[in-house]
Amino acid sequence: MPFNIAVLGAQWGDEGKGKIVDMLAPHVSAVARYQGGHNAGHTVYVQGRKFVLHLIPSGILHPGVTCVIGNGVVVDPEALFREVDELGRMGVAVDGRLRISEKAHVILPYHRELDVLSEARRGERKIGTTSRGIGPAYEDKIGRRGIRICDVLGDGDALAEAVRENVNARNRIIRESTLDWKPVYDDLVAFGERIRPWAADVSLLLAQMMHEGKSVMFEGAQATLLDIDHGTYPFVTSSNASVGGICTGLGVPPRAIGGVLGVAKAYTTRVGEGPLPTELDGPLADRLREGGQEYGASTGRPRRCGWFDAVVVRYSARINGLDALALTKLDVLDGLPEVPICTGYRVGGRTVTDFPADLRLLARAEPVYETMPGWTTPTKGVTRMEQLPPAARRYIERLEAASGVECALVSTGSDRAETIVRPGSVVARWFP
Ligand code: IMP
Repeated sequence: MPFNIAVLGAQWGDEGKGKIVDMLAPHVSAVARYQGGHNAGHTVYVQGRKFVLHLIPSGILHPGVTCVIGNGVVVDPEALFREVDELGRMGVAVDGRLRISEKAHVILPYHRELDVLSEARRGERKIGTTSRGIGPAYEDKIGRRGIRICDVLGDGDALAEAVRENVNARNRIIRESTLDWKPVYDDLVAFGERIRPWAADVSLLLAQMMHEGKSVMFEGAQATLLDIDHGTYPFVTSSNASVGGICTGLGVPPRAIGGVLGVAKAYTTRVGEGPLPTELDGPLADRLREGGQEYGASTGRPRRCGWFDAVVVRYSARINGLDALALTKLDVLDGLPEVPICTGYRVGGRTVTDFPADLRLLARAEPVYETMPGWTTPTKGVTRMEQLPPAARRYIERLEAASGVECALVSTGSDRAETIVRPGSVVARWFP
């Protein structure tokens, strides 16, 4: 029987999903991305070599694993081929293993431009996007004028007309601009020729694999708090990063999802704008940022840092039906005298423990902390729970109780090998 799991972010992204997906990939036949685009940056270290993946699923480093880009993803052809070529230079061949949905929408050069212009127009209210054209590409998709991979591979005249119409519409939005549609079209045709062997009906492909008893892993990008519906709107990305995105973004039924693993950092980070209740500033923020190398894998932006927020992770557990957590970067907290956990918020004289829907409430939320003693013995590279200092174990136990989810995996360093798989945990049962 195939057993398919989802691995997705339980906070604001950058939790270290790439490492977890890469580590569990040998247990599955395919890894499938269901949303987002090359705004994601999944860093994977294997034997000291660093791989940064943006669009290609993090299973690509395992030769037997098929990597699938679903219809819910937006594909920038230039970014895709840059990544494929870079992997090729590092000795990782994608041919025969990479499949891209014919229904995935394409990011065009003017989407990037519109992203930058939209941010400039918002001024102080900017989202802090990655400037990759993600939002405008999804806008075209929802506006029913997007261009899909199957359009690029199909009739040239129909494609020419769609590109001409879209470019002309864009020229009307951006005043005094006269972008020529023809080079956009020519680039798309060249892209189509290269992508043709990889294009597939992804829903059918995955159904066939499961029918043959092969297991699939669904890989989320960004995270629950950046989900267009359930995140801190409007400071979110433009897709469903939470579990619901799997069904729509790949064409698989809900029953195909056998388990859901949420990835959460042992503290909290966020890039871009929007509320972050446990945000720190000053030396403590610097300490977490430098210790965890908290700089965006896609944009290099410094990440905002704060303490672990159990309200956020409990909310993620509810939205996604998390079976367990993979807790990452525990080692970054080594040496701190104390480590607070946020267990609720004070808002308008009341204590709340459910994540507020209204962003104005969240912006005013004062974290309620429970302070745990820190530990001095390093946890870096530890692979067994009993080797952790007792204070680190107590921190994990308290964090689990406050979040309502068990930590099945604990990551103690950036390499695949630097991970604790808890005996008897859900993950140990999923993959004995
Ligand atoms: P966009 O996805 O580029 O439109 O950006 C929207 C918001 O999502 C911004 O706050 C970005 O910083 C954030 N974001 C997008 N991709 C990632 C990611 O991979 N990690 C963390 N934040 C992200």
